[in-house]
Amino acid sequence: MPHFDRHVFVCVNERAADHPRGCCKAKGGNEVRDALKKELTARGLGKAIRANNAGCLDQCEHGVTIVVYPEQVWYGGVTVDDVKEIVDRHLIGGEPVARLVLADPPTSEPTG
Ligand code: FES
Repeated sequence: MPHFDRHVFVCVNERAADHPRGCCKAKGGNEVRDALKKELTARGLGKAIRANNAGCLDQCEHGVTIVVYPEQVWYGGVTVDDVKEIVDRHLIGGEPVARLVLADPPTSEPTG
């Protein structure tokens, strides 16, 4: 089984357009995931850092939501334009991107 230093889960959950909580897919979840995977591959980090699709992380109002493990840093409102900064500053440099960190990160398991 491969060992990864970090896992990055990107919510790509989809809901109906009229759902009151909205969804990360409609806010660009797939595009953020694709940009993240592309950036990790371009930096040669694909074997050390794994980017995965996630279902709803229960932070829909703050989407696109991302969580980075093992340090459990939660990001909200992530766009494609933020991906390089997250990779450079956090995933390579070890310093979370403060302006994107959720102020009240969840403490329980995602509800789906
Ligand atoms: S739909 Fe993305 S956190 Fe709920």
